[in-house]
Amino acid sequence: MDHFELKNGVLHAEDVPLTAIADAVGTPVYVYSRATLERHAQVFRDALSILPRVHIAFAIKANPNLAVLRVMKREGLGADVVSAGELARALAAGMPADDIVFSGVGKQHHEMIAGLKAGIGQFNIESEEEGEELAEIAASLGLTANCALRVNPDVDARTHAKISTGKAENKFGVPIDRAAGIYARLASRPGLNMRGVAVHIGSQLSELEPFEEAFAKVGALVAELRAAGQSVTHVDLGGGLGVPYKAGETFPSPEEYAAMVARATEGWDVTLMFEPGRVICGNAGVLLTKVVRVKRSSNKAPFVIVDAAMNDLARPAMYGAWHDFDAVKPSGDRMTAHIVGPICETGDTFAMDRDCDALVAGDLAVFRTAGAYGATMASSYNSRGFVAEVMVDGDKFAVVADRIMPEAISASERVPDWLE
Ligand code: LLP
Repeated sequence: MDHFELKNGVLHAEDVPLTAIADAVGTPVYVYSRATLERHAQVFRDALSILPRVHIAFAIKANPNLAVLRVMKREGLGADVVSAGELARALAAGMPADDIVFSGVGKQHHEMIAGLKAGIGQFNIESEEEGEELAEIAASLGLTANCALRVNPDVDARTHAKISTGKAENKFGVPIDRAAGIYARLASRPGLNMRGVAVHIGSQLSELEPFEEAFAKVGALVAELRAAGQSVTHVDLGGGLGVPYKAGETFPSPEEYAAMVARATEGWDVTLMFEPGRVICGNAGVLLTKVVRVKRSSNKAPFVIVDAAMNDLARPAMYGAWHDFDAVKPSGDRMTAHIVGPICETGDTFAMDRDCDALVAGDLAVFRTAGAYGATMASSYNSRGFVAEVMVDGDKFAVVADRIMPEAISASERVPDWLE
């Protein structure tokens, strides 16, 4: 469910016509709905309330905009961060340090220091080497890092290969069959408080079975660790629950997910931690774009060339991802078209042979479900600058990220005098 609906023939974000946002801010522009963000945070939290002790950390990588993070904070969510930059954002949004989890396979020395000094709640360690480095830094600062060991359960998440993280050949976590030994060695290091296990097998999962298979392996590891005398008080089950990108698709609901988690974790007696990203913010955003022109070069489908491109929304070019594409003022007529951006490579294609609303030059349209992994994955390729972001709240809206013009980017570049 989201709050992007047709009212009097015009697509609205909550009570704001998207035409008004295009007039005020220009296009392309990402538009987020506060009510949708809140609703998804609440639905996820309510679904998990059947579990005894729960901590939810919003995966900031999905949408790190400060206004979005403030909504998450107001909903009581913490943050899953993977860089010093994300850590700074979580703190700037007012999230308590204790609610922040630091994930990521390549945490750097300075990032570990930043996390330790901020007093974050947990580091998810991805290798023995990383754990040793963190132990040394923590001990030298006279601090103790709460840690979970991220395991790789060698489970196929049955999602796109580029966003699958739980197979043995993926770079993430330690092999689950070596985890008990690594855990014991790290637990003996001053500077570390090994308190649990973490797992995240991938993103945009459309089925619950891979989660359940991974969680069963984690349950066995928890039992093994405890039998060996280790303390395990926290288990981080990661994120990954997928969302529909095509009208009519159905995905497991947060309630079904929670029921599966309850089944899989029965008797664990730990605080369960979650790192949802997409399921919270995916359909809380659209990318609003304008048709530059419609190009008819053969008797095949025309190219609808829009002013958004792969640098603004990378998912179709990167993963072959589908985003529904709808006119802001649909006439009722349909067309079959290739939807493309202006960038000079064929990969800058949002859709081929798409049945969509009939469009002409100057019309506005949206790519839906662009609230997760949209603006945050933008680049300035073709010197196009960075798209603005807007948040709607009822009948008002605000720019929550300025458009960054190409001139501002080139202003940071220098020509050395030896090239004069
Ligand atoms: N926790 C960890 C350790 C992760 O690596 C991720 C996502 C999440 C949580 C959140 O997963 P989610 O609930 O959003 O599925 N750019 C890709 C998605 C990359 C996901 C990376 N890790 C896309 O556009 O589909």
